[in-house]
Formats: sequence, structure tokens, C-alpha cells
Amino acid sequence: MKAALYDSFGDPEQVKVGDIDPPEVGEGEVLVRIEAAGVNPVDAAVQRGHLQGRLPHTFPIIPGWDMAGVIEERGFSARRFEVGDAVFGYARRPVVQWGTFAEYVVIPESYLAKQPQSIPATEAGAIPLTGLTAYQSIFDAGRLEAEETILILGASGGVGSFAIQLAKTEGAEVIGVASQSNHDYMKQLGADATIDYHSEHIGEATLDIAPEGVDLIFDCSSGESMQQSLSALKNDGKLVSILNTGENLDPDIDFEYVFVEPNSSQLDTLADLVDADKLDIHISKTYSLDETPQALQNIEQRHTKGKTIIIP
Ligand SMILES: NC(=O)c1ccc[n+]([C@@H]2O[C@H](COP(=O)([O-])OP(=O)(O)OC[C@H]3O[C@@H](n4cnc5c(N)ncnc54)[C@H](OP(=O)(O)O)[C@@H]3O)[C@@H](O)[C@H]2O)c1
Repeated sequence: MKAALYDSFGDPEQVKVGDIDPPEVGEGEVLVRIEAAGVNPVDAAVQRGHLQGRLPHTFPIIPGWDMAGVIEERGFSARRFEVGDAVFGYARRPVVQWGTFAEYVVIPESYLAKQPQSIPATEAGAIPLTGLTAYQSIFDAGRLEAEETILILGASGGVGSFAIQLAKTEGAEVIGVASQSNHDYMKQLGADATIDYHSEHIGEATLDIAPEGVDLIFDCSSGESMQQSLSALKNDGKLVSILNTGENLDPDIDFEYVFVEPNSSQLDTLADLVDADKLDIHISKTYSLDETPQALQNIEQRHTKGKTIIIP
């Protein structure tokens, strides 16, 4: 199969497209022909070697953890799906090696769910990693409830775009933080109020909007934003971050770090929300497999609006 590959950590330009045999389809696994693969900041971080202390790896590595595609073959005992079913999934495995920036991937069927029926595979492939991250952060860790107020830092990006919409499905009030140029976009997604981190102090601007403070801060941004936001957290509020692991935080803050996990039943929920017209997928750029280095360089700038994808 054709795949993006790299043999050492470093600059994204080292990623080349080549031919490699896909692995054997094992017990409980399926072979999926990939139609679209979402691009995520973690793909660039892994490729630069930033996670090598945390995640074991085997070279050559095919980057990419997101995908939508079609089941081509089933291994012994794999029976959740039929050959020809359109599925999507978050394909992070215990060892970093076989990714989704390729024509095929072999993956445990338990990682997968059926694609939403109302959108093309090109949009479904952008959902799993960021959709699951938002879901697990604001509902599992953040326990967000109706009529609570959530402040989302980095709300126009891949994760933030899902977080705004998921919080609205729960009936929460949403304040989104991103650059001014993304404020109309965040409002289209459902944000009730927006803050520009370039020109406003986030904590003060949040208290102007919600004088009693917010119940949940969801941090998917960088820079000073999280520290600035803390003055707007209610005493009994919760802070959830997917970037900061809690160093230098006041120990009295109710804090949780989330590292997203595969979860097929939550993918089913996300697919149902898409089909109920409650979740929109915004693709800002599409790359070919040959353009993987550019896709990685772009995503590591941390200013993506919605999602970018690779079509192998
Ligand atoms: N732990 C996990 O499981 C997990 C899962 C997914 C992602 N992540 C991490 O979470 C981060 C976000 O991921 P993503 O896919 O949403 O990234 P993304 O698509 O690149 O979005 C980044 C967002 O952050 C905003 N932003 C940039 N600098 C900011 C600042 N100083 N203050 C507030 N907002 C700022 C951007 O808005 P503007 O363009 O307007 O600046 C944009 O909305 C990445 O670092 C990623 O590696 C972690």
C-alpha cells in the first residue's frame, strides 16, 4: 500500500510517501481502506519525537491517528461489521507504528463505529480524535450540566469546535476564546459570547460576561491563556486541560488532565449527533498523501480553524 512514512524523528520534511505491505489481519482485527484521515497537532508532536518518552514506537512509523474508511477484510472472530461497512475511528495503538496517513490500516474492530450517514467520509474522518477529546473532557472529566457556564480556551480549533457544539447540546452557556477573526465562526457553532486572547485579559473579560464566574474551564490552547482564565473559575468550578498536566497549579483547584482514549460507543453518540444535525464538521483544508509534510507543518502552528484532513 501507499503510505506516508518516517524512519527517524525530526523535521516534517523527512516524511516521505512510499510502498509498504500492510500487516496481517489478526484476531479481532479488520483491514480498512482509508477514505480520509484527520490531521492533528499530536501527529506533528509524535513525528518531532516529543512523545517518545511516553509512547513506545517502532520505525518506520506511518503518522496519523484519525480515519474514516471501508471494511475490506475481517480477521478471525471479528464480527461487529460486514465487509463494505463504512466506519470511522481513533486509531492510536499501544505502540506507535501503523498510522492512518496510508491507503489501508489494520485495527481492532473494537476501536470502530459506523460512520454518520448524513455526511461524506471526508468529514467523518475528521471527527474521532478531536470529537472524542472534547466529549471525554467536558462530559467525563468536566461533568458539564445544563445551564452551567463553560469557558473554552482555543475554541475555534479542532477540539474547540466540537466542544462548543457538544456543550450547547447539553444546554450550557458557552464562552469561546480565539482570535477576533474566528469570532463569527465560534458564534455560528453556538458560542454565546467570545473573547479575543490577543487584546483582552481572559479572566477579566470572562467576569464581564459571567460575573459569578464559570463552572468549567476547558483548556485546549497555549500561552498564558489558562493562567489568565483562572480568576474567572468559580470556587467549586473545575479545570480540565488537554495540554497542561497540572504543574504549578494551586492544589485547591479541582483539576483533571485528559489524554483521549479510543471509545466506540462515544463515536456512536457523535455519529448520532451529526445525523441529528447537532454537530457540524468544518474542514478548512484538504491535503493529498504526498502533501503530508505540509499538513504536519500547518497543524503544528496551532491556528487551524476546524479541521484539516488527508485524502490518501
Ligand atoms: N490530551 C489530548 O488527548 C489531546 C487531544 C487533542 C488535542 N490535544 C492538544 O490540544 C491542543 C489543541 O488541539 P486542536 O486540534 O484543537 O488544535 P488546533 O486545531 O490547532 O486549534 C488551536 C486553537 O487554539 C487557539 N489558540 C492558539 N493560541 C491560543 C492562545 N494563546 N490562547 C487561546 N487560544 C489559542 C486557536 O485559535 P486562533 O487560530 O484564533 O489563534 C485555535 O482555536 C493541541 O496542542 C493538541 O496537541 C490534546
